[in-house]
Amino acid sequence: MDANETVCHCMSVTRGEIMEAIKAGGLKTVEEVGEATAAGTGCGGCQSVIQEILEELS
Ligand code: FES
Repeated sequence: MDANETVCHCMSVTRGEIMEAIKAGGLKTVEEVGEATAAGTGCGGCQSVIQEILEELS
């Protein structure tokens, strides 16, 4: 797993940034990740990957 991998191309958000936001904020949903990082708030195409990251960290 590469923390520098861009997960959300619309908003240029990396896997590492999403993981940090989830850990720091105790985030549970794709919507919360969107509010915290903007990831997933463009085309929505990355939301399944965000969901996977949430599940990995839960
Ligand atoms: S790639 Fe994340 S919203 Fe489009």
